[in-house]
Amino acid sequence: MTTREPRIDAKTGAYAIIGRPVRHSLSPVMHNAAFGKTGINAVYLAFETEDVKGACSAMRALGIKGYSVTIPNKERIIHEIDEPDASVRRIGACNTVKNANGRLLGTNTDWLGAVKALEKKMAISGKSAVVLGAGGSARAVVFGLKEKGVHVTICNRTLKKAQMLAREFDCDAAELSKAEALYAEILVNTTSVGMGELKDKSPVSKKGVLNYQLVMDIVYSPLETLLLRYAKEAGKMVINGLEMLLYQACAQFEYWTDVQAPEKTMREALQNAID
Ligand code: ATR
Repeated sequence: MTTREPRIDAKTGAYAIIGRPVRHSLSPVMHNAAFGKTGINAVYLAFETEDVKGACSAMRALGIKGYSVTIPNKERIIHEIDEPDASVRRIGACNTVKNANGRLLGTNTDWLGAVKALEKKMAISGKSAVVLGAGGSARAVVFGLKEKGVHVTICNRTLKKAQMLAREFDCDAAELSKAEALYAEILVNTTSVGMGELKDKSPVSKKGVLNYQLVMDIVYSPLETLLLRYAKEAGKMVINGLEMLLYQACAQFEYWTDVQAPEKTMREALQNAID
C-alpha cells in the first residue's frame, strides 16, 4: 500500500464518524488511507456521541469538514442540518454530512453502497429482487433498488412493516418465510439473522437460495454468513457486507472532497483492519 505519512499542521482538515458505539468502526481506517493516498491534508477520527445538536454546533464552530453518521444518530441528525437532500428525505436517514462554509448538507450513501456492490456483479436495472427485512437498512436498500428500476418484493417477519414499506416505495410485500418460494435474480438480506446470537441461522434455506442468482448479505460479522455459505455452495454469486461498507465510504469521500475515491487503497485498509 502506497500511502503518504500523515502530516498534521495548521491546515489539516478534520472529519469524523459520530455515533455510539464507534470504537469498532472501520470508517477511520478507510478514510485515513484515502486521505493519505490522495494527498489530501485531512484526518478522520471517531467521536462516540449521541449529541447530534452539539456535534453540528461543533462542526460549524470548529470548521469540521465532514461527518459520517451512524447508529443511533442517522435519523435525529436530519433535524440539525441545513439541507437534507432527496435521498435523506426519502430514506429518512442521513449517514453523511458536509460542511459547506457553515451550511451543513446531508446525504445518504448507504443506498449507493448497496447498489454499487450489486452492480459490480450484475446489471441490475429492470431485474427483480427480494429484500429481507423492513428496518432502517432495508429502507436504504429498497430506495437504491427502486432508483435503478428494480422490481422489489420486501419480505419481513412482521408482515405489517413489510406492507407499509412496500406501499411507500411501490413494492410487493410478503412474510419472511415466503422468500423460500419466490423467484428473483437478486436476494438481499438486511435482517439480523446470521449475526450475533443468530449466526447459526439463515433467513432462507439451502433449497430456497436456489431461486436466486445473486445473493447479498449486508451483515459483515461474520464475513460469511450461513446464507452466503448456502449460496456459494449452490454456485450462486455472493456479496458480503464489506462491499456495501466500502462503497458507501467511497461515495462519502467523493461527496466531501470532489476527488475520486481510491477504491483499491480503501479496500486494502478495510481488509487489513478485518485481518
Ligand atoms: P436495521 O437498521 O439494521 O435495519 P432494524 O431497523 O432494527 O435494524 O431492523 C431489523 C430487521 O431485522 C427487521 O426487519 C426485523 O424484523 P421485524 O420487523 O419483524 O422485527 C428483522 N429481524 C430481527 N431479528 C429477526 C429474527 N430473529 N428473525 C427474523 N427477522 C428478524
